[in-house]
Amino acid sequence: MKTFIYPGSFDPLTRGHMDIIWRASSLCDRLIVAVLKNNSKEAFFSPEERVQMAQLCLLPFSNVLVCSFDGLLVDFMQEQKAAAVVRGIRSESDFRYELELSATNRLLYDKYESFLLPARQDYAIISSSIVREVASYGGDISAMVPEQIENIIKERFSPNN
Ligand code: PNS
Repeated sequence: MKTFIYPGSFDPLTRGHMDIIWRASSLCDRLIVAVLKNNSKEAFFSPEERVQMAQLCLLPFSNVLVCSFDGLLVDFMQEQKAAAVVRGIRSESDFRYELELSATNRLLYDKYESFLLPARQDYAIISSSIVREVASYGGDISAMVPEQIENIIKERFSPNN
């Protein structure tokens, strides 16, 4: 059974993430969407909120599971007996960052392998930080996030919260 891991902050999950998940899940037997609990960049949504939102969106995917992880990705990868890590790239700067990430991870674990999937062009400008920025001004995020979590995100940014 071939397991891939799709790690990230998912703060929150976007339509771009969904596209990568949809494509990556057809390349393996099991895809683990791994939400990083404590990142150096502080997350807006709690790890529990990020996992719950991802689970809501990914219910229809029979070979995708969502969990959170802490610590090094290479340790989590070995715990899960995963063959490879999947990451999406939207731009040249993403590509540079991913090269560094994979080189570092290979130094830490010599069996480390990764797949870099280019983002769909119409999703290439979507990022979790843009979603948070637009939502914080009450803007329309419907084209950026899955419909299952649009209201959850809006409510978190509503002035009453
Ligand atoms: O969605 P992001 O924030 O770009 O995801 C970054 C992530 C989670 C893939 C990366 O920060 C990570 O793997 N963190 C776990 C800690 C780790 O293994 N660091 C060493 C590699 S730099």
